Amino acid sequence: MEHLYEKLIQNQLSDMYPYHMPGHKRNMENFPMAEYYGIDITEIDGFDNLHHPEGILKSIMQRAAQLFGAETYLLVNGSTGGILSAVSAVLRRGDTLLMARNCHKSAWHAAYLRACKIRCVYPACLEHYGICGAVSAEDMERCLRLYPEIRAVLLTSPTYDGVVSDVARIVGLAHDRGIPVIVDEAHGAHFSLDARFPESAVDLGADLVIHSIHKTLPALTQTAVLHVQGNLVDRDRLRRFLGIYQTSSPSYILLAGIEQCLAVLEEKGTALCETFFRRNAVFEKRMMQLQHLHILSAETERFRGNGLFDFDTGKKIISTAGTQLRGNTLYDLLRSRYGLQMEMAGQTYVTAIMTIMDSEAGFTRLADALGEIDGMLAGSVSVLQGKAHDFVGGFATLADLQAETAAYTVYEAIESEQETACLEECQGRTAGEWITVYPPGIPLIVPGEIFTETVIGKLLYCREQGFTIEGMRDDNRKVCVVRKEIYA
Ligand SMILES: Cc1ncc(COP(=O)(O)O)c(C=O)c1O
Repeated sequence: MEHLYEKLIQNQLSDMYPYHMPGHKRNMENFPMAEYYGIDITEIDGFDNLHHPEGILKSIMQRAAQLFGAETYLLVNGSTGGILSAVSAVLRRGDTLLMARNCHKSAWHAAYLRACKIRCVYPACLEHYGICGAVSAEDMERCLRLYPEIRAVLLTSPTYDGVVSDVARIVGLAHDRGIPVIVDEAHGAHFSLDARFPESAVDLGADLVIHSIHKTLPALTQTAVLHVQGNLVDRDRLRRFLGIYQTSSPSYILLAGIEQCLAVLEEKGTALCETFFRRNAVFEKRMMQLQHLHILSAETERFRGNGLFDFDTGKKIISTAGTQLRGNTLYDLLRSRYGLQMEMAGQTYVTAIMTIMDSEAGFTRLADALGEIDGMLAGSVSVLQGKAHDFVGGFATLADLQAETAAYTVYEAIESEQETACLEECQGRTAGEWITVYPPGIPLIVPGEIFTETVIGKLLYCREQGFTIEGMRDDNRKVCVVRKEIYA
Protein backbone atom coordinates (compact mmCIF):
# COMPACT_ATOMS: atom_id res chain seq x y z
CA MET A 1 0.00 0.00 0.00
CA GLU A 2 1.23 3.49 -0.84
CA HIS A 3 1.70 5.89 2.03
CA LEU A 4 1.22 9.58 1.46
CA TYR A 5 3.96 10.70 3.81
CA GLU A 6 6.52 8.37 2.24
CA LYS A 7 5.46 9.53 -1.20
CA LEU A 8 5.97 13.13 -0.17
CA ILE A 9 9.45 12.34 1.11
CA GLN A 10 10.30 10.49 -2.10
CA ASN A 11 9.20 13.52 -4.07
CA GLN A 12 11.26 15.79 -1.83
CA LEU A 13 14.36 13.67 -2.35
CA SER A 14 13.88 13.26 -6.08
CA ASP A 15 15.53 15.48 -8.67
CA MET A 16 12.15 16.69 -9.94
CA TYR A 17 12.22 20.51 -10.09
CA PRO A 18 8.97 22.29 -9.10
CA TYR A 19 7.68 24.90 -11.56
CA HIS A 20 4.44 24.87 -9.62
CA MET A 21 2.91 26.06 -6.38
CA PRO A 22 3.63 26.48 -3.51
CA GLY A 23 5.82 29.51 -4.06
CA HIS A 24 8.47 28.47 -1.52
CA LYS A 25 9.58 25.82 -4.07
CA ARG A 26 10.48 23.48 -1.21
CA ASN A 27 13.55 25.66 -0.78
CA MET A 28 14.13 24.96 2.93
CA GLU A 29 17.08 27.27 3.49
CA ASN A 30 14.96 30.02 4.98
CA PHE A 31 12.60 27.90 7.06
CA PRO A 32 13.57 26.39 10.39
CA MET A 33 10.09 24.86 11.00
CA ALA A 34 10.86 21.20 10.54
CA GLU A 35 9.40 19.57 13.68
CA TYR A 36 5.73 19.97 12.94
CA TYR A 37 4.27 17.78 15.68
CA GLY A 38 6.26 19.51 18.39
CA ILE A 39 4.79 22.90 17.55
CA ASP A 40 1.23 21.90 16.67
CA ILE A 41 -1.07 23.48 19.28
CA THR A 42 -4.52 24.99 19.62
CA GLU A 43 -5.43 28.34 21.21
CA ILE A 44 -3.70 27.83 24.55
CA ASP A 45 -2.70 30.65 26.90
CA GLY A 46 -0.33 33.13 25.39
CA PHE A 47 -1.01 32.17 21.78
CA ASP A 48 -3.86 34.55 20.97
CA ASN A 49 -7.00 33.76 18.95
CA LEU A 50 -7.24 34.22 15.18
CA HIS A 51 -10.87 35.29 15.48
CA HIS A 52 -10.18 37.88 18.21
CA PRO A 53 -6.51 38.72 17.77
CA GLU A 54 -5.05 40.79 20.56
CA GLY A 55 -1.53 39.44 21.03
CA ILE A 56 1.00 37.61 18.91
CA LEU A 57 -1.37 37.05 15.98
CA LYS A 58 -2.34 40.71 15.99
CA SER A 59 1.30 41.64 15.69
CA ILE A 60 1.67 39.32 12.68
CA MET A 61 -1.36 41.01 11.10
CA GLN A 62 0.24 44.39 11.70
CA ARG A 63 3.49 43.27 10.13
CA ALA A 64 1.56 42.02 7.10
CA ALA A 65 -0.35 45.31 6.93
CA GLN A 66 2.94 47.19 6.95
CA LEU A 67 4.35 45.05 4.15
CA PHE A 68 1.29 45.02 1.89
CA GLY A 69 0.03 48.53 2.63
CA ALA A 70 -3.51 47.93 3.95
CA GLU A 71 -5.33 46.49 6.98
CA THR A 72 -4.70 42.73 6.77
CA TYR A 73 -6.41 39.56 7.98
CA LEU A 74 -4.67 36.18 8.09
CA LEU A 75 -6.31 33.27 6.30
CA VAL A 76 -5.63 29.59 6.88
CA ASN A 77 -7.99 28.14 4.28
CA GLY A 78 -6.57 29.85 1.29
CA SER A 79 -7.94 32.72 -0.74
CA THR A 80 -11.15 30.72 -0.88
CA GLY A 81 -12.11 31.80 2.66
CA GLY A 82 -11.12 35.38 1.88
CA ILE A 83 -13.19 35.54 -1.31
CA LEU A 84 -16.25 34.05 0.41
CA SER A 85 -15.89 36.58 3.24
CA ALA A 86 -15.24 39.57 0.98
CA VAL A 87 -18.28 38.94 -1.23
CA SER A 88 -20.47 38.23 1.78
CA ALA A 89 -19.34 41.37 3.56
CA VAL A 90 -20.26 43.74 0.75
CA LEU A 91 -23.48 42.12 -0.49
CA ARG A 92 -26.75 41.39 1.18
CA ARG A 93 -28.92 38.50 0.09
CA GLY A 94 -30.21 39.03 -3.44
CA ASP A 95 -27.91 41.96 -4.22
CA THR A 96 -26.37 42.25 -7.68
CA LEU A 97 -22.67 41.62 -8.24
CA LEU A 98 -20.78 42.67 -11.36
CA MET A 99 -18.28 39.93 -11.90
CA ALA A 100 -15.73 38.85 -14.48
CA ARG A 101 -16.93 35.57 -15.99
CA ASN A 102 -13.49 33.99 -15.54
CA CYS A 103 -13.56 34.26 -11.75
CA HIS A 104 -12.46 31.27 -9.73
CA LYS A 105 -15.12 28.87 -8.49
CA SER A 106 -14.83 30.28 -4.95
CA ALA A 107 -16.27 33.56 -6.24
CA TRP A 108 -19.20 31.68 -7.75
CA HIS A 109 -19.66 29.79 -4.51
CA ALA A 110 -19.87 33.10 -2.68
CA ALA A 111 -22.53 34.28 -5.14
CA TYR A 112 -24.50 31.14 -4.40
CA LEU A 113 -24.20 31.43 -0.63
CA ARG A 114 -25.43 35.05 -0.73
CA ALA A 115 -28.10 34.30 -3.38
CA CYS A 116 -26.65 37.10 -5.52
CA LYS A 117 -27.71 38.13 -8.96
CA ILE A 118 -24.73 38.20 -11.27
CA ARG A 119 -23.96 40.50 -14.17
CA CYS A 120 -20.99 39.15 -16.10
CA VAL A 121 -18.19 40.85 -17.93
CA TYR A 122 -16.33 38.63 -20.38
CA PRO A 123 -12.55 38.83 -20.70
CA ALA A 124 -10.73 39.14 -24.02
CA CYS A 125 -9.03 36.08 -25.48
CA LEU A 126 -5.32 35.85 -26.29
CA GLU A 127 -5.82 33.66 -29.30
CA HIS A 128 -2.25 32.66 -29.93
CA TYR A 129 -2.04 31.28 -26.43
CA GLY A 130 -5.67 30.24 -26.10
CA ILE A 131 -6.08 31.84 -22.69
CA CYS A 132 -8.31 34.52 -21.22
CA GLY A 133 -7.08 38.06 -21.62
CA ALA A 134 -7.95 41.06 -19.49
CA VAL A 135 -11.44 42.34 -18.70
CA SER A 136 -11.83 45.77 -20.19
CA ALA A 137 -12.66 48.85 -18.17
CA GLU A 138 -15.01 49.89 -21.02
CA ASP A 139 -17.07 46.71 -20.58
CA MET A 140 -17.17 47.29 -16.84
CA GLU A 141 -18.32 50.86 -17.38
CA ARG A 142 -21.02 49.79 -19.83
CA CYS A 143 -22.41 47.33 -17.27
CA LEU A 144 -22.22 49.82 -14.42
CA ARG A 145 -24.24 52.26 -16.54
CA LEU A 146 -26.76 49.67 -17.72
CA TYR A 147 -27.37 48.10 -14.31
CA PRO A 148 -27.58 50.72 -11.59
CA GLU A 149 -28.58 47.99 -9.13
CA ILE A 150 -24.96 46.68 -9.06
CA ARG A 151 -23.67 46.75 -5.47
CA ALA A 152 -20.10 45.47 -5.88
CA VAL A 153 -17.51 44.58 -8.52
CA LEU A 154 -15.35 41.48 -8.47
CA LEU A 155 -12.54 40.54 -10.84
CA THR A 156 -9.52 38.26 -10.95
CA SER A 157 -6.27 40.03 -11.65
CA PRO A 158 -3.82 38.51 -12.32
CA THR A 159 -5.54 35.44 -13.68
CA TYR A 160 -4.16 31.98 -13.06
CA ASP A 161 -2.28 32.53 -16.33
CA GLY A 162 -0.78 35.85 -15.19
CA VAL A 163 -3.00 38.28 -17.12
CA VAL A 164 -3.53 41.61 -15.37
CA SER A 165 -6.49 43.94 -16.01
CA ASP A 166 -6.63 47.71 -15.66
CA VAL A 167 -7.57 47.61 -11.99
CA ALA A 168 -6.92 51.33 -11.45
CA ARG A 169 -9.53 52.36 -14.03
CA ILE A 170 -12.03 49.80 -12.88
CA VAL A 171 -11.65 50.94 -9.28
CA GLY A 172 -12.11 54.55 -10.40
CA LEU A 173 -15.32 53.70 -12.29
CA ALA A 174 -16.78 51.82 -9.35
CA HIS A 175 -15.76 54.38 -6.77
CA ASP A 176 -17.39 57.16 -8.83
CA ARG A 177 -20.61 55.30 -8.06
CA GLY A 178 -19.74 54.51 -4.44
CA ILE A 179 -19.35 50.80 -5.24
CA PRO A 180 -16.62 48.65 -3.64
CA VAL A 181 -14.23 46.60 -5.76
CA ILE A 182 -12.96 43.16 -4.74
CA VAL A 183 -9.85 41.97 -6.52
CA ASP A 184 -9.01 38.29 -6.42
CA GLU A 185 -5.25 38.80 -6.56
CA ALA A 186 -4.66 35.24 -5.34
CA HIS A 187 -1.84 34.82 -7.87
CA GLY A 188 -0.32 38.25 -7.34
CA ALA A 189 0.73 38.33 -3.69
CA HIS A 190 4.26 39.19 -4.84
CA PHE A 191 3.26 42.28 -6.82
CA SER A 192 3.97 44.80 -4.07
CA LEU A 193 7.51 43.47 -3.55
CA ASP A 194 9.05 45.17 -6.57
CA ALA A 195 8.04 47.85 -9.07
CA ARG A 196 9.01 45.55 -11.95
CA PHE A 197 6.00 43.37 -11.14
CA PRO A 198 2.59 44.77 -12.09
CA GLU A 199 1.12 47.19 -9.56
CA SER A 200 -0.77 45.59 -6.71
CA ALA A 201 -4.53 46.13 -6.50
CA VAL A 202 -3.94 47.33 -2.94
CA ASP A 203 -1.83 50.21 -4.25
CA LEU A 204 -4.44 50.85 -6.93
CA GLY A 205 -7.15 51.46 -4.35
CA ALA A 206 -9.24 48.25 -4.50
CA ASP A 207 -11.36 47.93 -1.37
CA LEU A 208 -10.78 44.23 -0.75
CA VAL A 209 -7.82 42.31 -2.10
CA ILE A 210 -7.18 38.63 -1.52
CA HIS A 211 -3.73 37.05 -1.79
CA SER A 212 -2.88 33.35 -1.74
CA ILE A 213 0.58 33.89 -0.33
CA HIS A 214 1.15 30.16 -0.75
CA LYS A 215 0.91 30.45 -4.52
CA THR A 216 3.77 32.83 -5.28
CA LEU A 217 5.48 33.70 -1.99
CA PRO A 218 7.55 31.55 0.37
CA ALA A 219 4.58 30.34 2.42
CA LEU A 220 2.90 27.05 3.24
CA THR A 221 -0.05 25.76 1.22
CA GLN A 222 -3.40 27.18 2.40
CA THR A 223 -1.89 30.37 3.80
CA ALA A 224 -3.39 33.56 2.45
CA VAL A 225 -4.20 37.12 3.47
CA LEU A 226 -7.09 39.49 2.92
CA HIS A 227 -6.55 43.25 2.76
CA VAL A 228 -9.20 45.89 3.27
CA GLN A 229 -9.04 49.66 2.91
CA GLY A 230 -11.28 52.69 2.45
CA ASN A 231 -14.71 53.30 3.86
CA LEU A 232 -16.93 51.23 1.57
CA VAL A 233 -16.50 47.99 3.51
CA ASP A 234 -18.08 47.42 6.91
CA ARG A 235 -15.30 45.87 9.02
CA ASP A 236 -17.70 44.23 11.48
CA ARG A 237 -19.47 42.40 8.68
CA LEU A 238 -16.15 41.36 7.21
CA ARG A 239 -14.93 39.97 10.54
CA ARG A 240 -18.23 38.18 11.05
CA PHE A 241 -17.91 36.36 7.75
CA LEU A 242 -14.23 35.56 8.29
CA GLY A 243 -15.39 33.93 11.52
CA ILE A 244 -18.00 31.94 9.64
CA TYR A 245 -15.89 30.73 6.74
CA GLN A 246 -12.64 30.06 8.57
CA THR A 247 -12.08 27.08 10.83
CA SER A 248 -12.40 27.52 14.59
CA SER A 249 -9.18 25.51 14.92
CA PRO A 250 -6.66 27.42 12.84
CA SER A 251 -3.34 25.66 12.48
CA TYR A 252 -0.55 27.41 14.33
CA ILE A 253 1.87 25.78 11.95
CA LEU A 254 0.22 27.63 9.08
CA LEU A 255 0.08 30.85 11.09
CA ALA A 256 3.76 30.55 11.97
CA GLY A 257 4.35 29.87 8.28
CA ILE A 258 2.77 33.25 7.47
CA GLU A 259 5.05 34.87 10.03
CA GLN A 260 8.10 33.20 8.52
CA CYS A 261 7.08 34.31 5.05
CA LEU A 262 6.85 37.90 6.31
CA ALA A 263 10.26 37.59 7.94
CA VAL A 264 11.84 36.34 4.71
CA LEU A 265 10.26 39.20 2.76
CA GLU A 266 11.21 41.85 5.32
CA GLU A 267 14.80 40.69 5.60
CA LYS A 268 15.57 39.50 2.10
CA GLY A 269 12.67 40.57 -0.13
CA THR A 270 14.61 43.22 -2.02
CA ALA A 271 17.63 40.99 -2.59
CA LEU A 272 15.47 38.04 -3.63
CA CYS A 273 13.66 40.23 -6.17
CA GLU A 274 16.95 41.52 -7.56
CA THR A 275 18.18 37.97 -8.05
CA PHE A 276 14.86 36.90 -9.55
CA PHE A 277 14.85 39.68 -12.15
CA ARG A 278 18.50 39.08 -13.02
CA ARG A 279 17.87 35.38 -13.62
CA ASN A 280 14.63 36.12 -15.39
CA ALA A 281 16.30 38.53 -17.82
CA VAL A 282 18.71 35.79 -18.89
CA PHE A 283 15.83 33.32 -19.17
CA GLU A 284 13.63 35.64 -21.26
CA LYS A 285 16.52 36.47 -23.58
CA ARG A 286 16.98 32.80 -24.26
CA MET A 287 13.24 32.39 -24.75
CA MET A 288 13.20 35.13 -27.40
CA GLN A 289 15.58 33.00 -29.44
CA LEU A 290 13.22 30.05 -29.66
CA GLN A 291 11.95 29.42 -33.17
CA HIS A 292 8.85 27.39 -32.50
CA LEU A 293 7.83 27.53 -28.87
CA HIS A 294 6.69 30.88 -27.47
CA ILE A 295 6.70 32.20 -23.95
CA LEU A 296 4.08 34.81 -23.14
CA SER A 297 6.15 36.50 -20.44
CA ALA A 298 8.92 37.08 -23.00
CA GLU A 299 6.46 38.54 -25.49
CA THR A 300 4.25 40.61 -23.26
CA GLU A 301 4.73 43.75 -25.33
CA ARG A 302 3.15 42.11 -28.38
CA PHE A 303 -0.14 41.72 -26.51
CA ARG A 304 -0.20 44.80 -24.31
CA GLY A 305 -3.26 46.89 -25.15
CA ASN A 306 -4.51 44.03 -27.26
CA GLY A 307 -6.29 41.81 -24.79
CA LEU A 308 -3.70 42.33 -22.10
CA PHE A 309 -3.16 45.29 -19.80
CA ASP A 310 -0.13 43.87 -18.04
CA PHE A 311 1.40 40.49 -17.35
CA ASP A 312 3.04 38.80 -14.36
CA THR A 313 6.69 38.04 -15.05
CA GLY A 314 6.46 35.03 -12.76
CA LYS A 315 4.08 33.15 -15.05
CA LYS A 316 5.58 31.36 -18.03
CA ILE A 317 2.93 30.30 -20.52
CA ILE A 318 4.85 28.14 -22.98
CA SER A 319 2.89 27.87 -26.20
CA THR A 320 3.19 24.99 -28.63
CA ALA A 321 0.71 26.59 -31.09
CA GLY A 322 1.73 26.00 -34.67
CA THR A 323 3.99 23.07 -33.82
CA GLN A 324 3.22 19.38 -33.89
CA LEU A 325 3.48 19.24 -30.08
CA ARG A 326 0.42 19.26 -27.88
CA GLY A 327 0.56 20.90 -24.51
CA ASN A 328 0.30 17.66 -22.61
CA THR A 329 3.05 16.07 -24.73
CA LEU A 330 5.38 18.92 -23.86
CA TYR A 331 4.33 18.63 -20.21
CA ASP A 332 5.08 14.88 -20.18
CA LEU A 333 8.35 15.38 -22.03
CA LEU A 334 9.56 18.02 -19.58
CA ARG A 335 8.67 15.75 -16.71
CA SER A 336 9.97 12.44 -17.95
CA ARG A 337 13.05 13.50 -19.87
CA TYR A 338 14.14 16.62 -18.00
CA GLY A 339 12.75 16.10 -14.48
CA LEU A 340 10.77 19.35 -14.64
CA GLN A 341 7.32 19.37 -13.08
CA MET A 342 5.11 22.03 -14.66
CA GLU A 343 2.08 23.64 -13.03
CA MET A 344 -0.36 22.56 -15.75
CA ALA A 345 -0.86 21.57 -19.38
CA GLY A 346 -3.47 22.97 -21.74
CA GLN A 347 -4.15 21.85 -25.27
CA THR A 348 -1.39 23.98 -26.76
CA TYR A 349 0.55 25.27 -23.81
CA VAL A 350 2.09 24.43 -20.48
CA THR A 351 2.40 26.74 -17.52
CA ALA A 352 5.44 27.13 -15.30
CA ILE A 353 5.34 29.25 -12.16
CA MET A 354 8.57 31.07 -11.29
CA THR A 355 8.94 32.81 -7.94
CA ILE A 356 11.60 34.66 -6.02
CA MET A 357 12.48 31.31 -4.44
CA ASP A 358 13.51 29.66 -7.70
CA SER A 359 17.16 28.79 -7.94
CA GLU A 360 19.56 29.67 -10.73
CA ALA A 361 19.58 25.99 -11.62
CA GLY A 362 15.80 26.08 -11.85
CA PHE A 363 15.78 28.86 -14.47
CA THR A 364 18.64 27.26 -16.38
CA ARG A 365 17.17 23.78 -16.44
CA LEU A 366 13.93 25.03 -17.95
CA ALA A 367 15.68 27.26 -20.49
CA ASP A 368 18.00 24.41 -21.52
CA ALA A 369 15.15 21.94 -21.85
CA LEU A 370 12.99 24.31 -23.90
CA GLY A 371 15.95 25.20 -26.12
CA GLU A 372 16.61 21.55 -26.81
CA ILE A 373 12.95 20.74 -27.49
CA ASP A 374 12.63 23.80 -29.75
CA GLY A 375 15.58 22.49 -31.75
CA MET A 376 13.80 19.18 -32.20
CA LEU A 377 10.77 21.00 -33.64
CA ALA A 378 12.72 22.14 -36.68
CA GLY A 379 10.13 20.87 -39.15
CA SER A 380 7.20 22.66 -37.51
CA VAL A 381 4.74 24.86 -39.43
CA SER A 382 4.86 27.54 -36.82
CA VAL A 383 5.21 30.24 -35.67
CA LEU A 384 3.91 33.63 -34.74
CA GLN A 385 0.89 33.05 -36.98
CA GLY A 386 0.04 29.92 -35.07
CA LYS A 387 -3.24 30.10 -33.25
CA ALA A 388 -4.33 27.93 -30.38
CA HIS A 389 -7.42 25.87 -30.96
CA ASP A 390 -10.65 27.33 -29.76
CA PHE A 391 -10.62 25.52 -26.49
CA VAL A 392 -7.46 25.09 -24.56
CA GLY A 393 -6.66 23.70 -21.17
CA GLY A 394 -9.11 24.69 -18.52
CA PHE A 395 -11.06 27.51 -20.02
CA ALA A 396 -10.15 29.88 -22.74
CA THR A 397 -12.40 31.45 -25.28
CA LEU A 398 -15.17 32.74 -23.16
CA ALA A 399 -16.32 35.03 -25.92
CA ASP A 400 -18.43 32.34 -27.54
CA LEU A 401 -20.16 31.61 -24.25
CA GLN A 402 -21.29 35.18 -24.00
CA ALA A 403 -24.69 34.61 -25.53
CA GLU A 404 -25.73 32.24 -22.79
CA THR A 405 -27.77 34.47 -20.58
CA ALA A 406 -28.49 32.79 -17.31
CA ALA A 407 -32.06 31.63 -16.97
CA TYR A 408 -31.98 31.57 -13.17
CA THR A 409 -29.60 32.90 -10.58
CA VAL A 410 -26.99 30.47 -9.30
CA TYR A 411 -28.97 30.12 -6.10
CA GLU A 412 -32.28 29.45 -7.84
CA ALA A 413 -30.74 26.84 -10.12
CA ILE A 414 -29.06 24.98 -7.27
CA GLU A 415 -32.07 25.09 -4.99
CA SER A 416 -34.45 23.93 -7.73
CA GLU A 417 -35.55 20.36 -8.29
CA GLN A 418 -32.86 18.74 -10.37
CA GLU A 419 -32.28 15.70 -12.51
CA THR A 420 -29.43 14.36 -14.60
CA ALA A 421 -29.26 14.32 -18.39
CA CYS A 422 -26.79 12.83 -20.84
CA LEU A 423 -24.27 15.42 -21.94
CA GLU A 424 -25.11 14.85 -25.60
CA GLU A 425 -28.81 15.49 -24.93
CA CYS A 426 -28.80 18.48 -22.62
CA GLN A 427 -28.85 21.32 -25.17
CA GLY A 428 -31.25 24.05 -24.08
CA ARG A 429 -31.46 22.79 -20.49
CA THR A 430 -30.46 24.90 -17.50
CA ALA A 431 -27.35 23.81 -15.60
CA GLY A 432 -27.91 22.82 -11.99
CA GLU A 433 -24.23 22.49 -11.08
CA TRP A 434 -20.90 24.09 -11.84
CA ILE A 435 -18.82 22.19 -14.35
CA THR A 436 -15.19 23.05 -14.02
CA VAL A 437 -12.26 21.83 -16.03
CA TYR A 438 -9.18 21.60 -13.83
CA PRO A 439 -6.92 23.48 -13.68
CA PRO A 440 -7.51 26.40 -13.44
CA GLY A 441 -10.84 25.98 -11.66
CA ILE A 442 -12.93 28.45 -13.66
CA PRO A 443 -16.38 27.01 -14.29
CA LEU A 444 -17.17 26.29 -17.93
CA ILE A 445 -20.83 26.50 -17.07
CA VAL A 446 -22.42 27.80 -13.88
CA PRO A 447 -25.79 26.90 -12.37
CA GLY A 448 -28.51 28.86 -14.15
CA GLU A 449 -26.69 29.07 -17.50
CA ILE A 450 -28.02 27.24 -20.54
CA PHE A 451 -26.24 24.27 -22.11
CA THR A 452 -25.56 25.28 -25.71
CA GLU A 453 -23.99 23.36 -28.54
CA THR A 454 -20.71 25.22 -27.88
CA VAL A 455 -20.55 24.30 -24.22
CA ILE A 456 -21.50 20.70 -24.90
CA GLY A 457 -18.86 20.50 -27.63
CA LYS A 458 -16.21 21.83 -25.26
CA LEU A 459 -17.17 19.38 -22.56
CA LEU A 460 -17.16 16.48 -25.01
CA TYR A 461 -13.72 17.53 -26.14
CA CYS A 462 -12.40 17.79 -22.56
CA ARG A 463 -13.85 14.39 -21.72
CA GLU A 464 -12.26 12.83 -24.77
CA GLN A 465 -8.90 14.43 -23.98
CA GLY A 466 -9.01 13.14 -20.42
CA PHE A 467 -8.98 16.57 -18.71
CA THR A 468 -10.04 16.56 -15.08
CA ILE A 469 -13.67 17.63 -15.01
CA GLU A 470 -15.47 18.49 -11.79
CA GLY A 471 -19.25 18.60 -11.53
CA MET A 472 -20.36 15.87 -13.94
CA ARG A 473 -21.97 12.61 -12.91
CA ASP A 474 -21.72 8.94 -13.86
CA ASP A 475 -18.14 8.93 -15.14
CA ASN A 476 -18.57 12.27 -16.87
CA ARG A 477 -21.45 11.01 -18.97
CA LYS A 478 -24.22 13.03 -17.32
CA VAL A 479 -24.82 16.55 -16.19
CA CYS A 480 -27.08 17.96 -13.56
CA VAL A 481 -29.94 20.12 -14.89
CA VAL A 482 -32.88 22.01 -13.46
CA ARG A 483 -36.09 19.98 -13.57
CA LYS A 484 -38.43 22.45 -11.99
CA GLU A 485 -37.80 25.72 -10.29
CA ILE A 486 -39.14 25.63 -6.78
CA TYR A 487 -37.37 28.66 -5.41
CA ALA A 488 -39.82 31.38 -4.53
C1 LIG B 1 -7.76 32.91 -9.42
C2 LIG B 1 -7.90 32.12 -8.16
N1 LIG B 1 -8.55 32.62 -7.12
C3 LIG B 1 -8.71 31.96 -5.97
C4 LIG B 1 -8.21 30.71 -5.81
C5 LIG B 1 -8.40 29.99 -4.52
O1 LIG B 1 -7.21 30.06 -3.81
P1 LIG B 1 -6.86 29.05 -2.63
O2 LIG B 1 -6.44 27.78 -3.26
O3 LIG B 1 -5.73 29.75 -1.92
O4 LIG B 1 -8.06 28.92 -1.78
C6 LIG B 1 -7.50 30.10 -6.87
C7 LIG B 1 -6.96 28.75 -6.72
O5 LIG B 1 -6.35 28.17 -7.55
C8 LIG B 1 -7.35 30.82 -8.07
O6 LIG B 1 -6.69 30.29 -9.13
